[in-house]
Amino acid sequence: MKLSLFELLYGLSEALDHVESEWHPLPKVHAKKTAYFAVRMGECAGLKKEKLYQLALAGLFHDSGITRSQGGLCREKEGTKEELKFRLLAGEENFMQLPIRNPKPHLVLFHRERGDGSGAFGRKAGEYPREAGWLHLAERVSRLEAGWDEKTLRKEEIERKLQELKGRVLDPGAVELFFRAEPRLEAGDLFIKEYLRKILPDDHREWTEEEVGRFSLLMARIVDERCGPSCVHSREITRRIQLLAEYYQYPEVIREKLCLAGALHDLGKLVIPLEVLNKPGTLSEQEVKEMRNHVLYTYYILNRISGLQEITMWASAHHEKLNGKGYPFHLSGEQLFYPARMVACVDIYQALREPRAYKAEKSHESAVQIMKEMAQAGEIDPMIVDDLEKLFRR
Ligand SMILES: [Fe+2]
Ligand SMILES: [Fe+2]
Ligand SMILES: [Fe+2]
Repeated sequence: MKLSLFELLYGLSEALDHVESEWHPLPKVHAKKTAYFAVRMGECAGLKKEKLYQLALAGLFHDSGITRSQGGLCREKEGTKEELKFRLLAGEENFMQLPIRNPKPHLVLFHRERGDGSGAFGRKAGEYPREAGWLHLAERVSRLEAGWDEKTLRKEEIERKLQELKGRVLDPGAVELFFRAEPRLEAGDLFIKEYLRKILPDDHREWTEEEVGRFSLLMARIVDERCGPSCVHSREITRRIQLLAEYYQYPEVIREKLCLAGALHDLGKLVIPLEVLNKPGTLSEQEVKEMRNHVLYTYYILNRISGLQEITMWASAHHEKLNGKGYPFHLSGEQLFYPARMVACVDIYQALREPRAYKAEKSHESAVQIMKEMAQAGEIDPMIVDDLEKLFRR
């Protein structure tokens, strides 16, 4: 299917910003601003389009490793060098998985190194790619401008601050370049998107099935990681939905759309506060409401990415019921197309098969039994339940 990686990451970066903002107050466009500032610097340095493109993607994805440290081992170590290193390694791994030709290594990994060598990996200016230094400066300005470290700073104050950080923290060359590039500090979402679209190469192209699969698993993993180190929910759904689509002998493009829909169905969980998302005990009424909002967030985020209309519907209807008693839109049978019903059924099946804090995992047989009862009650599609029974028995 035809996709634009830039469009995808541009939209998905909003979800990642939310994750980061759980730890620090950030503007909703932190990743976008980082990408824009870095690209402006790249332009000023005379970088070719292809390199600007990678810089933009690295800016949009630079914080993607955070879900692993938040949901995983490093949660308690927030703010330490160890956590930062862990997060940067995860981010680098994510970036290198993106379907781009020759992804440039170390852009993400070293984007928090300090000029004096006191950063996570102990490299001094000149010992990491200069673009990584630009990303560091770009993300720092985005934070300063948002009032992350202290109050929101105005232009002159930011300039003063950059002079102060020059050398010790930031690459002196990067600071000079930033002043020459003169990006619009107050640039917003629409401006940034138009700006980047105009100067970056058009990356709308046909993706291979392997690329769609790899990207889907990458995004599924990012969501899973936030739900805990042992969570494989979204990845398993991606795998199972692929099996089901093959079983139905769907054409390639439908298989690919289903794969993405399965991978991204719980994307909105990135927006749910960790205490609710990973609460070991039962949720209060209020928390249940909050938790249920994850499908709405999935919808809002995906709906803004052009070219994903069907995927958005299939992904965000996974808690709907055929009898209209599901959520969030209370859609009913005739509004729920077969692929949306498939995602819903695979989600239920997978959830039943997983152990959760409040329940043990179910066997294949008892999961199917429960689903048959749901089908009888008019909630889910009985045909799909029959097919899952055969297909997932092994
Ligand atoms: Fe950041
Ligand atoms: Fe869900
Ligand atoms: Fe789910």
